[in-house]
Amino acid sequence: MWPDRRLIDLFGIEHPIILAPMAGSGTPELVAAVANAGGMGSLGCAMLDAEGLAGAVVRIRAATNGVFNLNFFAIRDPAPDAETLSRMAARLQPWYRRYGVAPPPAPPPAPAFFDQTRLRQVLDLAPPVVSFHFGLPQHDAVTALKAAGIKVLSTATTVTEARALELAGVDAVIAQGFEAGGHRGAHRPNDAQDGVGTLSLVPQIADVVSVPVIAAGGIADGRGIAAAFALGASGVQMGTAFLLCPEAATDARRRERIRNASADDTMMTAAVSGRPARARRSRYAEAMAAAGTDLPSFPALYALTGPLLEAAGAEDDEVSFHLYGQSAALAREAPAGEIVARLVEQSAAAFARLAGPRG
Ligand SMILES: Cc1cc2nc3c(=O)[nH]c(=O)nc-3n(C[C@H](O)[C@H](O)[C@H](O)COP(=O)(O)O)c2cc1C
Repeated sequence: MWPDRRLIDLFGIEHPIILAPMAGSGTPELVAAVANAGGMGSLGCAMLDAEGLAGAVVRIRAATNGVFNLNFFAIRDPAPDAETLSRMAARLQPWYRRYGVAPPPAPPPAPAFFDQTRLRQVLDLAPPVVSFHFGLPQHDAVTALKAAGIKVLSTATTVTEARALELAGVDAVIAQGFEAGGHRGAHRPNDAQDGVGTLSLVPQIADVVSVPVIAAGGIADGRGIAAAFALGASGVQMGTAFLLCPEAATDARRRERIRNASADDTMMTAAVSGRPARARRSRYAEAMAAAGTDLPSFPALYALTGPLLEAAGAEDDEVSFHLYGQSAALAREAPAGEIVARLVEQSAAAFARLAGPRG
């Protein structure tokens, strides 16, 4: 039924539907459920240490023989200087006061890159697929993964980034549009409002790369999947659509917000982590957007905003970081295997409808 089989053949999967990696929200059980339903499950590993990563892969392999992907951040933003950090700490003072919390005393830890140690562990774990967000690690790492027979993917948020990824040797490009929940995978820091929508991005990337294109951002049902194929994609990567699954680690408060979501209740903000991310609106993010930029780089800013997020708790209209995308209102509450089956059925119906009446 699928009009393009390139991704299906590349990964050896039944359906060209990829569960997006979602660090902190995905689980090995969610990955396995999507893989068992014939799609590909991705695990966001950016927040896992070596032990956590090894344990997660054991849990995935215990629950599925299907195809899975381990995802890492290839961030290379320089750590912020002390002055930028202290300017930001001063801007946060009214918020700290409001919640009666103190700014963290120690400087934030240096960002964790995809380094040689992590590369060696990933080669040992030998997943079928590895994907990156925020660009690619050093060229040697990509070469080593590919030489080990591991398929390599990365995200492009512009046509230029897609060209660069193809030149660097990726097996497929994930075209992530502005609608997407979570962090924008731009290769360099850019303004929160500088995103390109999925409808514009996918066909322009499909026109210039010869590897398969995976559409991501705002796709949450079979209509969106059919549209992605019409735009030239060979498959889709979906995150928000799986956040209400019982297998997801989405916390209760965010589940409640997603159950009641509307198309316009998210915004792009860099004011929590240091890089633009789509999350539910909060007064904190709106106030920071109004006050301009000059933010410490990703992920150092988390160290300054973390105490606020924790203290605000249920006051999430004020301060929160509920990551989800513009199509959250289309998310359904069901086990991930059922979601995939429904997406396949809906896609078939959408393709049939677009083909017009027979005879
Ligand atoms: C809660 C959440 C966490 C995310 N974390 C990651 C991540 O760790 N790595 C990554 O490559 N993409 C991450 N993303 C972005 C997804 O890969 C993908 O681009 C996005 O979910 C697609 O848009 P959608 O949410 O509208 O389906 C995340 C998205 C969400 C919603």
